[in-house]
Amino acid sequence: MASFGDGTLNPLIGDGLYFGGDYNPEQWDRETWVEDADLMRKARVNLVSVGIFSWSRIETSEGKYDFEWLDEVLNLLLDRGVYVDLATATASPPAWLIKSDPTVLPVDHDGRRLSFGARQTYCPNSESFRSAASRLVEELVIRYNDFPGLKMWHVSNEYGCHVSRCYCDNCAAKFRLWLQKRYGGIEALNHAWGSAFWSQLYGGFDEINPPRIAPTFANPTQQLDYYRFASDSLRELYEMEAAIIRGHSDKPITTNYMGFFKGVDQFAWRGVGDFVSLDSYPDPHAAQVHVDAAAGYDLTRSVAEGEPWLLMEQAPSAVNWRGINGVKKPGQMRALSLSAVARGANGVMFFQWRAAKAGAEKFHSAMLPHAGAESRIYKEVQQLGDDLTKLSGVASAKVSASVAIVFDWNNWWAIELDSHPTDHIFYLLSIRKFYGSLQRMGITCDFVSPKDDLSKYKAVVAPNLYLCDRDFAKSLTSYVDGGGALLGTYFTGIVDQNDHVVLGGYPGYLRDLFGVLVEEFAPLRPGDGFDFSLVNSPTIHRGTLWSEVVSPTTASVLAKSNDEVGVDSLGVGQGGVLFENSFGRGRALYLATEVEDDFLDIVVERLLGDKFERSASEEVEVVERGQYTFVINHGVEVDFSLNHRQRDLLSGRVLEEAVSLKPYDVLVLEDV
Ligand code: GAL
Repeated sequence: MASFGDGTLNPLIGDGLYFGGDYNPEQWDRETWVEDADLMRKARVNLVSVGIFSWSRIETSEGKYDFEWLDEVLNLLLDRGVYVDLATATASPPAWLIKSDPTVLPVDHDGRRLSFGARQTYCPNSESFRSAASRLVEELVIRYNDFPGLKMWHVSNEYGCHVSRCYCDNCAAKFRLWLQKRYGGIEALNHAWGSAFWSQLYGGFDEINPPRIAPTFANPTQQLDYYRFASDSLRELYEMEAAIIRGHSDKPITTNYMGFFKGVDQFAWRGVGDFVSLDSYPDPHAAQVHVDAAAGYDLTRSVAEGEPWLLMEQAPSAVNWRGINGVKKPGQMRALSLSAVARGANGVMFFQWRAAKAGAEKFHSAMLPHAGAESRIYKEVQQLGDDLTKLSGVASAKVSASVAIVFDWNNWWAIELDSHPTDHIFYLLSIRKFYGSLQRMGITCDFVSPKDDLSKYKAVVAPNLYLCDRDFAKSLTSYVDGGGALLGTYFTGIVDQNDHVVLGGYPGYLRDLFGVLVEEFAPLRPGDGFDFSLVNSPTIHRGTLWSEVVSPTTASVLAKSNDEVGVDSLGVGQGGVLFENSFGRGRALYLATEVEDDFLDIVVERLLGDKFERSASEEVEVVERGQYTFVINHGVEVDFSLNHRQRDLLSGRVLEEAVSLKPYDVLVLEDV
């Protein structure tokens, strides 16, 4: 993170909490702008993101700019105390650019060129796009850098959202350069790609193409490298715009990430912007929408290396892009918003301020709905605006977590490649299950990448770590050696960074650490499973999805199977399911199948060495942010016990012992 003029390390500290949303004035007339600005002020909105999709309105034809409307809007807003997160407007190129060079349009995996008329219709490696975008950014930055209402720059929008990988000829040429840089020579590439297989040896980089549609499975390392290349290509765009901005401006720079989004390796993008922003759209119809939301918040804080971040977008109620778009119940939007603040956000923003009356997003909820300011949603927005002003002290407090979950984009890309033992392993589901277990215990966790320092964590969970290179294996090993507690699960340590199997038995470089040797695995069909129990316990649990033949070398067996497992067809008989290995000053646990939540909790408790007693129901989210304790009830009415006198910053009340929480009630407690 850069250091800013006022001496703070993070540009989000110093202004209290931001509140607002995307504002698209180009869709409205002047009278509406005035009404908007007045209603924003009434709701205590202090920041709006403007111009994200305004390229065609700002640059009406090549080199011809119309800024007057934007000047007027920004001044109207500033008059009401509303500051701007000004977009670089490059998220969607205008029709004239596409007309002048149709190769700006991206090409999909099957070789189809996508058409103009939606959004994000650009190939990240199109030179025409890059130079047109660069010119626009420069114009905007020069014009608005000294505008007194400018708080920050919003670069592009949701990189990769609709097109995370383009397969056009521009990309093919850039991919070759990228490969040359990664491997140096063609022999090294042939080795890394295992190209001797199926006669894929290359004589030169000019023979290589993206992994486009092919007769059968494309080379897995080629596919994996294409994920890496595509994420890097988008990052280059961000770097390109950031460099132009920095040439003229010292205002902070951000772009809005999408949480657990496969196309962008956010850990590898650290340091490009000045702070991290998130768009969060959990499905209100999901069983535990608040846990889904919280996972995205914790990931974002982790990408931000613990620094405050900005919730750039969320829906006030329903979105428009799911098959059936669930609404947020009264109070739920506030609860989910304050959960973000609890988990490190220094601002709560929405898509969008005013509901559109035309276009593909007219059924997306907005802070100001079609029904206007007398609506439930606008009133809830007003209440949230009030709440956030009471929490400005929270802005400098940080969340600290003692448990981490490994989350690695390279592993995500690799484990979900085709031609695997089963196509039923979904990395996010595995991550979400362990995250859910920690939430049930009331434990706030970080997400860590293979490059992060693990030593500050009491325990680390690494689900399905299929791809684990030598360096990460070393880091995990020294973490445990130094006293850490690690949990790994099946289909771990299988391949290195090139997707080559680490020979000698699984889990590869982690065999000694887990003290087990896996010789064979046998995936199970949906509906199939096997029973197992903890050693010395009669309780029967169920293993599904996966079975494997595990021989403990130094580990002890904590649970083993009782009946026929898939691997029994190999004549191996009953086998261990959960193992624990003492290693150096720490412990490593290995779980060899997919289990249900009750057993998962047993495993996690064993890892943490504690039995967790919750102070309230699982639906009550309790998170510490510095000296503040956020208590958020996502369930039915319930009692919550305090262990000492505390003041609730939202209501101003001093509370003692027990307090009754209605659905979606929130307390932000501070000691008195
Ligand atoms: C985001 C996007 C916004 C808006 C929103 C709708 O992906 O950044 O522009 O489309 O979704 O949910």
